[in-house]
Amino acid sequence: MNAIPKSSAVPADLDAFWMPFTANRQFKANPRLLARAEGLYYWTPEGRQVLDGTSGLWCVNAGHGRKEITDAVAKQIAVMDYAPPFQMGHPIAFEFASALAEITPRGLDRVFFTNSGSESVDTALKIAIAYHRVRGEGARSRLIGRERGYHGVGFGGITVGGMVNNRKYFGTMLPGVDHLRHTHDPARNAFSQGLPAHGAELADDLERPVALHDASTIAAVIVEPIAGSTGVLLPPRGYLKRLRELCTKHGILLIFDEVITGFGRTGSAFAAQEFDVVPDMITCAKGLTNGAVPMGAVFVKREIHDAFMTGPPGSIELFHGYTYSAHPIACAAGLATQRIYRNEGLFERVRAIAPYWSDAVHALKGRRHVVDLRAYGLVAGIDLSPRDGAPGARAYDALVAAFNAGLLIRITGDTIALSPPFIIERKDIDRIFETLGAIIDRLD
Ligand SMILES: Cc1ncc(COP(=O)(O)O)c(C=O)c1O
Repeated sequence: MNAIPKSSAVPADLDAFWMPFTANRQFKANPRLLARAEGLYYWTPEGRQVLDGTSGLWCVNAGHGRKEITDAVAKQIAVMDYAPPFQMGHPIAFEFASALAEITPRGLDRVFFTNSGSESVDTALKIAIAYHRVRGEGARSRLIGRERGYHGVGFGGITVGGMVNNRKYFGTMLPGVDHLRHTHDPARNAFSQGLPAHGAELADDLERPVALHDASTIAAVIVEPIAGSTGVLLPPRGYLKRLRELCTKHGILLIFDEVITGFGRTGSAFAAQEFDVVPDMITCAKGLTNGAVPMGAVFVKREIHDAFMTGPPGSIELFHGYTYSAHPIACAAGLATQRIYRNEGLFERVRAIAPYWSDAVHALKGRRHVVDLRAYGLVAGIDLSPRDGAPGARAYDALVAAFNAGLLIRITGDTIALSPPFIIERKDIDRIFETLGAIIDRLD
């Protein structure tokens, strides 16, 4: 192991950094620090190895410390550190967009760059509303999300999202938003292998806001094909197809938020391809650059893009964009990432190892506290029964115990969510589930 650089030592002062989505006081009383990463592993500042069961935060799909990405970033920053993306362009942005258009679902070959999943979501929602307006259907401004959805933390994203704590502190949010019911139904689907059998009819929920407001007022529906942040909720068989049919019938755009499912997590480049449903837009981030440089993107159907290209040629078609849209360093990281995915056949690798992964997950059935198990591609959700009067506490104990035992897991409520890098091997999967099984057995 290389020596740990000085900046990776435990900092003397933890007060100034207000940590995101973290119990700050609890953390700072007992910090869990990661200082170095390579392949499937992190190392703590003390040099303890931790197996990354979560690809960082669902983003380091090709594993850590990929030299190809480091080299591409170093080269690009030396050649040109930054260039403005408004009314100016730089070659690598066009090259990267064209490369991405080769792997997106049929027809989604126009790419708008952002810096995060949250920005991708707000961008897609804005494009949807503006699209209807430029076509003369400006009354279509309502948006529809889903309960238990997570679409980042912008005002658009939290409004269409369906997680109460992400919403309740932030006022009235956007007007004109409705929600479909979520599809999680353990009474009928607990311990399903593959996609759950029951719940396709929940897509018909879309008929309710249509009946209430009329389709002519609704711009778009946004869903995660697999809801990640609320605990790996898999789509019931036929659900996404049904939603597609209803959106088409009512002229409503369908947006898939593929921030976690994009770039191979299901075994296909996108869940849209895996589940054979073509949405009108896809939002992504995370695996776009293997997490190495912040970046997001929205893939847009060509006819949506083209609907904007109609006014006087000298007019700006979409008044939207970010200082760092298509940042050259992010594009370099992204191009190198996509080359790794392709050259190493990493998405196919997910598909090949997924049955072994699923078997390992489902082998936890019968352990204490385990009330449901879900697995697909290289994702798993493990539901623990909540401790009386202390929801989330049991899973938090599992997180701490796993970290102490050299395994990084993620928790949401009392669900353990796993999403390891695609370079994982069977022996690593065995190690994850041996460690986790023993931890779950010891939980109060
Ligand atoms: C489905 C989904 N959408 C949006 C986001 C937000 O992405 P970011 O944290 O990059 O803003 C996430 C993050 O986990 C996500 O899972």
